[in-house]
Amino acid sequence: MVTQAITAPKRGIHSIREMSTNDIERILDLARDFKAGKAINKLSNKTVALFFSENSTRTKLSFQLAATKLGAQVLDLNQDTSSISKGESLADTVMTLQAMGADCVVVRHNQSGITQYLQKYVTVPIINAGDGWAEHPSQCLLDLMTIREYKRFNGLRVLIAGDILHSRVARSNKIALEKLGAKVEFTGPKILMPPNTQKALWPESLTRTDVLILLRLQKERQTQGLIASLDDYHLMYGLTEKNLELLPEESLILHPGPVNRGVELAESVLEDHRCKVQEQVTNGVYVRMALIALALEGRGIVEISA
Ligand code: CP
Repeated sequence: MVTQAITAPKRGIHSIREMSTNDIERILDLARDFKAGKAINKLSNKTVALFFSENSTRTKLSFQLAATKLGAQVLDLNQDTSSISKGESLADTVMTLQAMGADCVVVRHNQSGITQYLQKYVTVPIINAGDGWAEHPSQCLLDLMTIREYKRFNGLRVLIAGDILHSRVARSNKIALEKLGAKVEFTGPKILMPPNTQKALWPESLTRTDVLILLRLQKERQTQGLIASLDDYHLMYGLTEKNLELLPEESLILHPGPVNRGVELAESVLEDHRCKVQEQVTNGVYVRMALIALALEGRGIVEISA
């Protein structure tokens, strides 16, 4: 039997595409205030459910920590030990979480668009923690928060390098940064570029880059025959010590993690003063506090009509 979607309008946080620049700035301002200890937003008697069907360290633990810092309880649903393994649908699973009293459900799944689909079945907000190749809004927002601590967006030259085709981080960041007035270019192996995408020259374009965002190379791209070897990838498209010399001194280097040392970047790059990978992780907690707080205030960013 097919579960019926409910028809009332609902709010959740599903994509950067659906956010206005005001929405983005509101989230970043609240995250900044949480980081500075200025915003106190206690959510006692609230419950945040986490449903991650793909592996995660940063996103899952920082949503968990964010909910805990706000005073909410956390329900952690593990797909492998849940009734999904007995055939329960994802829609029935989120409805079950809502019926138990979850006030918000954070979802990561390999299916693009899954959070908008699930939002049609529940009135509590769903927060997208990464859906397939589509979007990774909370990663994008923590990248923006990190950039905003050093730079202004208007006119900023951003280069995103690596497996653009399969990257939800690249997609969300291009949308957000262009909304905010930055100029975004892509580079990487041609076979890992979306069709009809203009490709910036690597490494030459590093000399005119304010922010370089390196993407994780998923190792299965080698078994799929999309790249020859990880060593070749590093030499041809990685941020080697030699390529690092081309980057302006005041530029920033970001990476969503997890990092493949010696593939996307030379190990020594992680020690460079321009590299903000650990600051990104720290900011992720405050961005996720802001997302949960806004969602639970009933001010989730996007309204979905069923
Ligand atoms: N950046 C990111 O999404 O990392 P995790 O997969 O560890 O959550």
